[in-house]
Amino acid sequence: MSNELEQMREPLLAAIADAPALDALETIRVDTLGKQGRITQLLKTLGKMSPEERQVEGPKIHGLREAVTEALGARKSALEQAALDARLASERLDMTLPVEGGSFGTVHPVSQVMDELAEIFADLGFAVATGPEVETDWHNFTALNIPETHPARAMHDTFYLAGVEAGGDERTVRRVLRTHTSPVQIRTMLDQKPPIRIIAPGRTYRSDSDATHTPMFHQVEGLVIDKGITLGHLKWTLETFLKAFFERDDIVLRLRPSYFPFTEPSAEVDVGYTIEKGKRVIGGHPGRDGGGGWMEVLGSGMVHPKVIEACGLDPNEWQGFAFGCGIDRLAMLKYGMDDLRAFFDGDIRWLKHYGFASLDVPTLSGGVGA
Ligand code: PHE
Repeated sequence: MSNELEQMREPLLAAIADAPALDALETIRVDTLGKQGRITQLLKTLGKMSPEERQVEGPKIHGLREAVTEALGARKSALEQAALDARLASERLDMTLPVEGGSFGTVHPVSQVMDELAEIFADLGFAVATGPEVETDWHNFTALNIPETHPARAMHDTFYLAGVEAGGDERTVRRVLRTHTSPVQIRTMLDQKPPIRIIAPGRTYRSDSDATHTPMFHQVEGLVIDKGITLGHLKWTLETFLKAFFERDDIVLRLRPSYFPFTEPSAEVDVGYTIEKGKRVIGGHPGRDGGGGWMEVLGSGMVHPKVIEACGLDPNEWQGFAFGCGIDRLAMLKYGMDDLRAFFDGDIRWLKHYGFASLDVPTLSGGVGA
């Protein structure tokens, strides 16, 4: 008996190790451990042995069964891994291969600028956040310290959604098309624990339409919540952002005291432009080289304690700054377009002229607007 076991062991383990495929391995398993398998048969002989004999043979047969079980398992994983590797290799797609023929259109300047913003702010440690365009009155106004009676509500030319009953829970009942990206500040503070560093680009809506206003437009919001945040952090961040965005080191900022219900103090930020070859160019110090002036680019300020409180945070512990900026306006200033309405006309000639190649991704090393 012992002999038989010894003779079985090596060839069996070798056969398992060499099994070329999963079905061959399964055949070996059935032949050895299956109902009629050789090892199963051996185990059955234990019952007929004398106790002394069983004490000697038992551990040997069980030992063989364990060795075979283990070897089968090891070979099975190896074969499965090899099958997976082969499949991954055969189904591989080289995404870096240049695409031939066909046209993929161009990237709209608004999408391009959103990509540039994400790239610039990612480098500063900001994540991208989003929120719904159909927003509640509470997120769009109330939580931002704009109560019902506040004149700022009238200023926003809000599109209210019809058919929604007033009353009930203010947070869920009354809906508007968001008039700015600032409600994403609220959603982010309610969702995440500080420290927070996000930008939130997206569509916004106001009932307004002329050469510089469209009912739908784009904004990007910025929000930082942390301990010990000051106006200095805000100024540095905006300066760094605008220099990277306009790809010039000589960007000059002017912060003007302003008012937003959700920031205190608040500042509107202008960038200087100069005249080069009869054209307005962002950058340089206005007035110094005769000519030029200031362009308003964004609104900003230190997050109002009431806003921090509305989001369930303690304003004595957490401070922050926020800013909001028109993306369409940024695109117009950087790429020299003059009529905002053309952004949304869908005119293929305009897109061909101002659009960006779909495979040129903005990078800080290559130049975000390259
Ligand atoms: N939400 C303001 C607007 O739409 C801009 C802003 C954002 C101002 C954040 C201050 C802070 O005009």
